[in-house]
Amino acid sequence: MISPKLLGLIIGWCLWRTAEAAFGLTSKGNSFSIDTNAGLVFDVSKSTGDITSLMYNGVQYQGTSKMTHLNSGLGTSKVTAETINGHVKITIVASSQPVTQYYIAKPNDATIYMATYLTGEINPGELRFLARLRRSAVPNGWHGDVANLDGCTAFEGKDTFKCPNGQTRCKMYTSDRFIEDQVHGVTGKNVGIWMIMPGVAYETSSGGPFMRDINSQSGDDQELYWYMNSGHVRTEPWRFGLHGPYAMQFTTGAKPSPELDTSFFSTLSIQGYVPASKRGTASGFATGVVPNFQPVLHWYNNASQYWTVPSSTTGSYTSPLMKPGTYTVKLYRGEFPIATDTVTITAGSNTVRNITSAEPNPPVVWRIGAFDGQPFELKNGDKIERMHPEDVRMGTWGGSYTVGKSSAKEFPMALFAKEGGAATVTFDLTKEQAAAETTLRVGTTLSFKGGRPAVKIGGWTGRDPGAPKLIDSRGVTRGAYRGYGEVYTWKIAAGTMKEGSNTLTISSAGSGDARFLSANWIVDAVELQGPIGPHSPK
Ligand SMILES: *[C@@H]1O[C@H](CO)[C@@H](O)[C@H](O)[C@H]1NC(C)=O
Ligand SMILES: *[C@@H]1O[C@H](CO)[C@@H](O)[C@H](O)[C@H]1NC(C)=O
Repeated sequence: MISPKLLGLIIGWCLWRTAEAAFGLTSKGNSFSIDTNAGLVFDVSKSTGDITSLMYNGVQYQGTSKMTHLNSGLGTSKVTAETINGHVKITIVASSQPVTQYYIAKPNDATIYMATYLTGEINPGELRFLARLRRSAVPNGWHGDVANLDGCTAFEGKDTFKCPNGQTRCKMYTSDRFIEDQVHGVTGKNVGIWMIMPGVAYETSSGGPFMRDINSQSGDDQELYWYMNSGHVRTEPWRFGLHGPYAMQFTTGAKPSPELDTSFFSTLSIQGYVPASKRGTASGFATGVVPNFQPVLHWYNNASQYWTVPSSTTGSYTSPLMKPGTYTVKLYRGEFPIATDTVTITAGSNTVRNITSAEPNPPVVWRIGAFDGQPFELKNGDKIERMHPEDVRMGTWGGSYTVGKSSAKEFPMALFAKEGGAATVTFDLTKEQAAAETTLRVGTTLSFKGGRPAVKIGGWTGRDPGAPKLIDSRGVTRGAYRGYGEVYTWKIAAGTMKEGSNTLTISSAGSGDARFLSANWIVDAVELQGPIGPHSPK
């Protein structure tokens, strides 16, 4: 039995809770204030749409010098607030940019749901959501200390830092492949603040499943990002329309699930929102991918992009819910394209389609690394996403590789025109191999400032293929490895090489700036194809 006195206390507490913390929207001065009734109360400026306060469980997380917003703030905007179908909806129409931003709150959910409607290029040339949080309250950035700037000084551009212990830091080192980046966040005592990109949140971004972009930077503020579009190693034009839905969620520390239901957006009059009922799918089998490599399927046209990972055993796949249209389809082994197709998606239906590897599989005399579109198995490849090539923890550059003795870890993952020297490959040929025509094949994943392979064997020099299409962005020094992925081949006439030992020298053609900013390219794999094997697996 509960005593009447205790019952009175409980009722009183409940009434107090109701008065203190009820879901809803209030207007106070120059702000709208939204109480989620789940511990999170946030304020939005009526003049700029900036988020100016983020109170969670009684603690203020919003930084004081700069606010939370798109890019560095949209400036003067038309900001409206309403309660619609049980949700609070804030609409921010920027006056001087082609963008409308939505902030949505749902009862009893410590989450700011968002979507960004874009009708043209925004100035400056990138589109990101950026929460500027109090560093003391959320000290820990994404991927540990890779973008912890404490005590470090910029040494390349304005964004790449070196610390007194010789380690390097850059916000680009916090990035993950979009195909995996569905939840990232920053944490502190009793708190985690997370960006969640559920379902098809990336459908209007650019660069495909392997694009990576900034997630956090820990300076005076803790900066938490979701990049929708940027010029960081950009390989595609921007897409317009609705970006998202995406969300920023507050927890007491635990990383949330990416399975976030945003279907209620269909009831909120969000410009550009395409509900599930107006979408379609493709399904079938993706086959011919060599075991031990991740198969990836990617659909894209100039309006949208999607991806999925087919079953690695059966190849069976079902696409995400896509907007109707005709798409180019690519199948990858890892990140290396091995088949292309087109498919038309119709609203409310599924298109059945199989795709299989179209990759030739000629015999090879030897191969270094794997043609998988990634340099991770090569020297320094295990570190390159998270630090600068001159970081104190990096191994040396250049190197000597002996076929039959060396492992892939002895061949550098990048070659620079003015740093680290060349790589050499020493290999033996039988009399029959030396007497046959062979093909030297070099796979790259990214080129900087016109960098491309320069190859030499004894007195033979491979023809210079010329500078590849320029990506106007720093690459390997900011932890990026994915560009257009050029693959180069050279026919080597019979009798050019000799029986016994031969040495191939590979370096970077091109010029560029000094040291690691000289022309460079990232190595995917190198192989010598010849009619007389061994025929090694991929
Ligand atoms: C996108 O593709 C459609 C259909 O092929 C075409 O009509 C349109 O001009 C393209 N838009 C851009 C911006 O390339
Ligand atoms: C697609 O592949 C599956 C599995 O290999 C096969 O059973 C099916 O007949 C194929 N469908 C078509 C249309 O080729």
